[in-house]
Amino acid sequence: MFSTTQKIGILGGGQLGKMLALAAANWDFKTFCLDPTPEAPASQVCTGFTVGDFNNYDEVLAFGRDKDLLTIEIEHVNTDALQELERLGKIVHPSPRALDIIKDKGLQKEFYREHDIPTAHFEIFEDEKSLKKAIESGAWKLPLVQKTRTAGYDGKGVAILRTLEDLETKLLPGPCLAEVLAPIETEIAIVAARNAQGEVAIFPAVEMDFHPEANLVEFLLCPARISRLVEAEAEALAESVIRAFDICGLLAVEMFWTKDGQLLVNEVAPRPHNSGHHTIDSAHTSQFEQHLRAICDLPLGSTASKTPVAIMLNLLGDPDHKGPVRYEGVEECLALEGVNIHLYGKALTSPFRKMGHVTITANTVAEAMKKANFVKGKLKVCAM
Ligand SMILES: Nc1ncnc2c1ncn2[C@@H]1O[C@H](COP(=O)(O)OP(=O)(O)OP(=O)(O)O)[C@@H](O)[C@H]1O
Ligand SMILES: [Mg+2]
Repeated sequence: MFSTTQKIGILGGGQLGKMLALAAANWDFKTFCLDPTPEAPASQVCTGFTVGDFNNYDEVLAFGRDKDLLTIEIEHVNTDALQELERLGKIVHPSPRALDIIKDKGLQKEFYREHDIPTAHFEIFEDEKSLKKAIESGAWKLPLVQKTRTAGYDGKGVAILRTLEDLETKLLPGPCLAEVLAPIETEIAIVAARNAQGEVAIFPAVEMDFHPEANLVEFLLCPARISRLVEAEAEALAESVIRAFDICGLLAVEMFWTKDGQLLVNEVAPRPHNSGHHTIDSAHTSQFEQHLRAICDLPLGSTASKTPVAIMLNLLGDPDHKGPVRYEGVEECLALEGVNIHLYGKALTSPFRKMGHVTITANTVAEAMKKANFVKGKLKVCAM
């Protein structure tokens, strides 16, 4: 429904909430965010802002009571309160059931297994000690990937264990899973969208390159450099995953294209995603507008690109700086054609914190890379 009076509640007020609120404002939609940080990025642009804990049952319930539609910008929220809000007649997208599965990597991987969705072989362990035992007994061989079941983000809940020494230094505490280390050729992500009528739209696959030290996506290239055949397979897989989860809204599907020719689902995020930021500048519909279209059951927008190539660079806090933020080199970058800078408005920077992103649009990969490297060398996030 297109309504400029309905109240859309967003759990979380970070950069994703901010960009969602900006897209909503473009249609005069009213957004309200719940976040524990009073000066969170979205607070500067949403219609209303509530300081509170999106993990607390009572606070989420109280927040949702006077809203018509609830959505999220982070999956680690109190889903019991969201279920209660559904019972009270509120529309909640994505569904609390899907969120419960997705926010626990163990349940998420079991879901793939049950639904015949290809994913790296895995086993769930009670804690790191039982995983260690399984390695010592030879049931699991190194190298392997250990992931904590909950609360991991930006690579923080992931350890690649290669040697016995890694078992002493890198093993993460708590309930976890072990995954076979996939021989990754290209890491890709596809943002899919689905509305309540079951219409699905798929953005072109993007290729992700990682910062070696921070384990964060450093830059992302659209379209991914994969064959048409693999791309079609990946799009079909993304569609089957969003349908399997029965999600209304966006679902970002991270996948591995392996050296032995397999397409594996790594993980999903039921919300706007880092791998869709370029769409603000490079696609007919941004992922944020698409999320609104999907959760409001409006016709989904065209996912076609407006430019042949787009690169998205995450602007990370400089590793040597911590404190009130200051940006260097913005003017030089603004002087370039096809460079769009997005700053999230976080007051404090710290090493590798996501502080903004830059989209570079160009006619060729070479031209885009040249500009991306220039921006990477010039634009710095420092402390005062
Ligand atoms: N089974 C695997 N085989 C090889 N590499 C893997 C495997 N699982 C994860 N990785 C690597 O670790 C990265 C982080 O893993 P994952 O996406 O599961 O964690 P995350 O903390 O949720 O990350 P993010 O929040 O950055 O998306 C992956 O993008 C990939 O590069
Ligand atoms: Mg990931």
